[in-house]
Amino acid sequence: MKRENVIGRANVEDTPELEAYYRSLEGESLGALWTVANEIEPWYPQPKSVPTLWKWQRIERLVRRAPELVSAEKAARRVVMLVNPGRKEWSAAAGLLYTGVQIMNPGEFTSAHRHQASALRFIMEGRGAYTVVEGERLTLGARDLVLTPNGTWHDHGVDAGGTQCVWQDGLDIPLMNSLDANFYEVHPQTVQKPGQPLDRKGWNRPYSPVFRYGWDESYAALRNSSAHSPYDGAVHEYRNPVTGGPVMPTIGAQLQRLRPGEGTRAHRHTGSAIYQVAKGRGSSVIDGQRFDWEEKDIFCLPSWAVHSHANASSTEDAVLFSFNDFPAMRALALYREAAV
Ligand SMILES: [Fe+2]
Ligand SMILES: [Fe+2]
Repeated sequence: MKRENVIGRANVEDTPELEAYYRSLEGESLGALWTVANEIEPWYPQPKSVPTLWKWQRIERLVRRAPELVSAEKAARRVVMLVNPGRKEWSAAAGLLYTGVQIMNPGEFTSAHRHQASALRFIMEGRGAYTVVEGERLTLGARDLVLTPNGTWHDHGVDAGGTQCVWQDGLDIPLMNSLDANFYEVHPQTVQKPGQPLDRKGWNRPYSPVFRYGWDESYAALRNSSAHSPYDGAVHEYRNPVTGGPVMPTIGAQLQRLRPGEGTRAHRHTGSAIYQVAKGRGSSVIDGQRFDWEEKDIFCLPSWAVHSHANASSTEDAVLFSFNDFPAMRALALYREAAV
């Protein structure tokens, strides 16, 4: 029991009588709030997730080993997950966000399925990767972003004439499971047959009608972005063109550009984010811990952690891709931000 000597906080000393009382409550599936109140109602968010950096240089060898050990078919989704040491039971990389690195050889594919979790992938390398979403086939190159929004049928693969491809998956599986709202279905066909293009007139689905966001256009938009924040640098948010809002109801994604030599001021906000370094090298300080990153490194930002970023180069841009749960936070009126 965490006691606090503050008016309005639980501060009850243990006695043999009370301990016996607690045991009898437990026997009836009951409990005394004051024994846990200070823990379950913290003064501010207390994430179990710890700031973590996964260096591509360290994990690459393990990712490349997966196809030697297990077939894409048997694994269904042959992915090496990035598991936060504080969130193992949720398979989360931070907060309620999941991420993994998927590797696929030419001619391999994942069978068609859909789930309640919203998903995106950010291509890391290779030629010939494709994703089929709702019967539409999208070809993907390095640093392209593709959405497979909640409830859409999708399958992925690499053309027989392509090269081994690697991409980062981002999903809100832990959020769906913590809300007890997850569903999973396998498509009646192993892979979707190309269908009619989706009718986008009067689009009213809760996610973007654009499924593929190419790197060249997105990076150009980032370079032209007038949205510059002292905390984030220049920002280009991937948007749903119909609403102007985030790409999916629970997950947002953005690019951040740090100009040569630029360092941001520190801030904090509710919501978690997973970053991948799209370009350049630099460092981030998260809750006092410094992480040095370079291209393809992945790191996580737990909710309410103080953070700042810096570009280590004096001549080149540094660009961070990230996805986050801010749309879910905002929908529940839980988003909060503070300068430090
Ligand atoms: Fe999926
Ligand atoms: Fe931030």
